[in-house]
Amino acid sequence: SKEKGWITEYLYQYKSFWFTPSAIKGIKRAQQCFKAQPTDILLVTFPKSGTTWFKALIFSLMNRDRFDLASHHLLTNGPHDCIPFLEAIIQDETSYQDYRISCLPCCLLATHVPYSLLPTSVMSSGCKIVYVFRETKDVLVSNWHYMKKIRLKELPSFPIEDAHDLFRKGISHFGPFWDHVSGYWKVCLENPDKVLFLTYEDMKKDPIVCLTKLAKFLDKPFRLEEEREEVVHEIVRLCSFENLSSLDVNQTGVQYFSPQFAVENRHFLRKGQVGDWRNHLTVEMA
Ligand code: A3P
Repeated sequence: SKEKGWITEYLYQYKSFWFTPSAIKGIKRAQQCFKAQPTDILLVTFPKSGTTWFKALIFSLMNRDRFDLASHHLLTNGPHDCIPFLEAIIQDETSYQDYRISCLPCCLLATHVPYSLLPTSVMSSGCKIVYVFRETKDVLVSNWHYMKKIRLKELPSFPIEDAHDLFRKGISHFGPFWDHVSGYWKVCLENPDKVLFLTYEDMKKDPIVCLTKLAKFLDKPFRLEEEREEVVHEIVRLCSFENLSSLDVNQTGVQYFSPQFAVENRHFLRKGQVGDWRNHLTVEMA
């Protein structure tokens, strides 16, 4: 079945989830070409859960031994170039091989793809998955603002009541939301060495604890207390909302909607707050 008007294209239901046609193509390409390696790291999010922020954080954390180089790359190219989307970057076997060579020794990738639709090698290899959860209502509100910015002008207006109604029914890009979350949560419960669950809210509240947990999970633990404090502060500053908002880059690695679709960096950074849903949803909607 298909549902119209959510973003710039229809959303189609495929294997119980909702996608744009370009996302379905990307998922199939990834399933065919992608061979996960044990050292790969996959950041997984439901859209609008803080993907851009966590891409910047993980990239900086993993490259902290050469922090100046890494921060320069991040600030010049933007978080989505540092950790591209698995389902967007692989065009064919050749582009996949090129990408693999370019990201040696450790490949950092991101995805919005539900667990059940990941390439099978992700499950069978020892590669690690970091799943970022964000409060549902904030995801919905963030999604709604994003859609309003990038929707084609000729489409009818899109009141929050409509967005809420669709979201509640599970209809949003990569939705249903709770099926997405629970797919990864089950694997995390069974195999905590495979999937680490983090939340947007915890990272906001206590980045030291979160980044320490993340570094340990990714086999790059902080060696000393001083290193931890100092490096974490540097990373938090580098990846702050204010810093990332000021980047003047187009995010071409997010081609979910059509091949030529490049999203401006500023569209990924709006308010960056916890609980903004209170300004948009009624109690009943919440
Ligand atoms: P809001 O719309 O609530 O502001 P994604 O990257 O998955 O598309 O998520 C976008 C959301 O993450 C937006 O939420 C955006 O403002 C927020 N975000 C992006 N960078 C951030 C940062 N450095 N710190 C906190 N939130 C950030």
